[in-house]
Amino acid sequence: MKEYTDYPILNYNTFGMDVKSSCFVEYSSVDELKSFLFSYDVKLPILHIGGGSNLLFLSDFKGTILHSAIKGFEVVDETDECIYIKVGAGEVWDDFVSYSVLKGWYGIENLSIIPGEVGASAVQNIGAYGVEAKDVIHKVHTVRLSDASERVFSNQECNYSYRDSIFKGEIKGQYIVTHVTYRLGKKPEYHLSYGNISSELDKRGLEPSLVNVRNIIIDVRRSKLPEPSELGNAGSFFMNPMVSMRKFRQLLEEYPDMPHYPIDEDTVKIPAGWMIDRCGWKGKSIGPAGVYHKQALVLVNLGGATGSDIAGLANEIIKSVKEKFGVDIHPEVNYI
Ligand code: EPU
Repeated sequence: MKEYTDYPILNYNTFGMDVKSSCFVEYSSVDELKSFLFSYDVKLPILHIGGGSNLLFLSDFKGTILHSAIKGFEVVDETDECIYIKVGAGEVWDDFVSYSVLKGWYGIENLSIIPGEVGASAVQNIGAYGVEAKDVIHKVHTVRLSDASERVFSNQECNYSYRDSIFKGEIKGQYIVTHVTYRLGKKPEYHLSYGNISSELDKRGLEPSLVNVRNIIIDVRRSKLPEPSELGNAGSFFMNPMVSMRKFRQLLEEYPDMPHYPIDEDTVKIPAGWMIDRCGWKGKSIGPAGVYHKQALVLVNLGGATGSDIAGLANEIIKSVKEKFGVDIHPEVNYI
């Protein structure tokens, strides 16, 4: 177990906020985590982080930041159709995607190069290009903070919905994810209908394959989203809002070209990026906090921004979208 005090966490948040945590602890096994939880002098509150790709630090953190270095891939079961693989929460998400693609296992290729770690995939229900982590999560293995007991959640018990789970809702902060068991397919099954994935395959004269789909997703993402190592950011800053069918019809009358995704009979998802773009924010900045010039859903640290700079820009954007469209948008990023 590694323990540090007054620890700089610049390298643990992709927004590149230069802040410190009073205490920082990294454990590499369930036993190490348990012995930390049983120790007397834990500095509270505890914040468990993954790759820090969805966090906005508003100031130094006065407590303990915990980070998992639990690694490993273990096939725990297998049928003719699928494999069940248990992965350490501290594995980098895209290492797992790349490993699965090499092995010829289907299900997560569309989630290529999403930043972050395996543990967070189960908390945040990460998603892209028509696939969400919940589609492949079988079980989530956890340790409870209050008494260090172990509990395994079934997929159903995790209450997954769009970028949401029980771990962000009713039991927030109570359990630490140590491993996730995923169910991946052995037979070809692709999700190509979202966005321009199949037209990109056609354009390049390629047949769908795990490697081809992964490569296209990587290219599409790189063309739209900035690399955190070059420009601090946390991916999509806002969630795409859901509106009622009534509200959707009103909006469509005024904006016939508005992109939209029907969710059910009464709900439609509208891309926040499109609305922010239509408000004229794309490429604009307030001081060192900017709106990325290729994708209005992404806020960027142009250099030396503080969490308050970014949050200030986010508030202005929320106000504009409300004024122009009458729709409330909410950050996907967690403010700390
Ligand atoms: N759009 C604009 N202007 C912009 C941005 C988007 O007009 O500046 C329009 C696009 O043309 C498109 C629509 O809005 O018609 C949706 O845009 P896009 O397909 O780029 O997807 P998104 O809604 O912006 C979501 C996820 C991403 C994920 C992509 C692809 C959320 C909050 N974001 O973005 O996830 O990669 O779809 O599936 O759901 C993340 O969560 O960090 C993330 C990057």
